[in-house]
Amino acid sequence: MSERWTPDSWRSKPVQQMPAYPNEKALAEVEAQLATFPPLVFAGEARNLKKALARVAAGEAFLLQGGDCAESFAEHGANNIRDFFRVLLQMAVVLTYAGAVPVVKVGRIAGQFAKPRSSPTEKVDGVELPSYRGDIVNDIAFTPEARTPDPQRQLDAYRQSAATLNLLRAFATGGFANLASVHQWMLGFVKDSPQSRRYKELADRISDALNFMRACGLDLESHPELRATDFYTSHEALLLGYEQAFTRVDSTTGDWYATSGHFIWIGDRTRQLDHAHLEYFRGIKNPIGLKCGPSLKPDELLKLIDVLNPDNEPGRLTLINRFGADKVGDHLPGLIRAVQREGRKVVWSCDPMHGNTITSTSGYKTRPFDRIVSEVRAFFAIHAAEGTHAGGIHLEMTGKDVTECIGGARAITDEDLNDRYHTVCDPRLNAEQSIDMAFLIAELLKQQRGGKTAPMPAAAGL
Ligand code: TRP
Ligand code: MN
Repeated sequence: MSERWTPDSWRSKPVQQMPAYPNEKALAEVEAQLATFPPLVFAGEARNLKKALARVAAGEAFLLQGGDCAESFAEHGANNIRDFFRVLLQMAVVLTYAGAVPVVKVGRIAGQFAKPRSSPTEKVDGVELPSYRGDIVNDIAFTPEARTPDPQRQLDAYRQSAATLNLLRAFATGGFANLASVHQWMLGFVKDSPQSRRYKELADRISDALNFMRACGLDLESHPELRATDFYTSHEALLLGYEQAFTRVDSTTGDWYATSGHFIWIGDRTRQLDHAHLEYFRGIKNPIGLKCGPSLKPDELLKLIDVLNPDNEPGRLTLINRFGADKVGDHLPGLIRAVQREGRKVVWSCDPMHGNTITSTSGYKTRPFDRIVSEVRAFFAIHAAEGTHAGGIHLEMTGKDVTECIGGARAITDEDLNDRYHTVCDPRLNAEQSIDMAFLIAELLKQQRGGKTAPMPAAAGL
């Protein structure tokens, strides 16, 4: 890999998964315009996230990362953003209280638009068209016009990201995330569900603790730690032209940062050592992620770490594992041992979604909740056996009451998938399944810490 790095040095490398834009001039014009637009996030915020992730790497905090597989233009709206943020807060509060660890909150949001595809084209009834690559590239409708990559969409994606981030910042700091509102985050449809009693019990305990402190004379309103939360954005940085346009120099340090989001990751399909994505990522100072699938060998992982985190800076690199419940036991221990042997500081995070996708008998792409749970359990068990820290979870989830993953407390069946299957990409956990998952992880975190934490409200029926 060449020594000199510039925001466009990736352009001289082979690149995977880039759309074929028919009009290169129009693309260049859009990229030039994007480069003049205000950044979405600031370098100082990315550094704060890196510090928080360094605590995760040291085993002192837990990473909660989640959101849509792909954001869409059609689903952009205040209610969707609010419902997602509310469920993420509920999950965070469950993990913080029951797991007794600080939780680093990162959304797959405000920029998660571009999708890698297994095939560049899709054939329906003998007609072959370019694959849908996410709303930032083309439209999902199966017509030649819709599927032609259109650079103007990058401007729309930027504006949607800015508007989304604006609302998220208001929610995180403007009162919505106040711990005193812990009861108000209960969603209507969760009220009569098995988890709602469990969540309410936990919220009651938090209120009790806050009331006690208030009675002791503490002015809770004067404590920003209780009133607000740090919330960060993330996405797969697939579309490198867009990313380059938002790569800016931080005036306080002179370093380059990706300002399209706080945290960006490299997909499992674009992590070739001598290719463009690695080249781009090595030059930016943000905290970054690397998706690790079954084809990644331990020695290859070490080479990737050499390129992406040469100074072994804790918090810089998160390894997001996505093996599948039946494969995680074969692959993860080898990677952990290699990283431990070489003394590399990383955050280990579990993506239990992407290795557990199946096609249901009714033809829907789905993910069985019990397989997702079983990969998460295996992830914790393997780290316990290796003496390392199960640092985080990476979920595809929504605040809505969708029916996309089968199973869970409400036992969504194959037949139910047809009711509210809304995803434009991969199946997501719905709000109830997400909260269920948080309680399960809180239990596992408690075991990891040796059980010296607050007792958990029992699961329904126990
Ligand atoms: N500021 C703390 C944190 O973010 C406590 C907190 C405030 C919190 N609001 C929250 C925790 C909402 C979880 C959810 O961890
Ligand atoms: Mn996905």
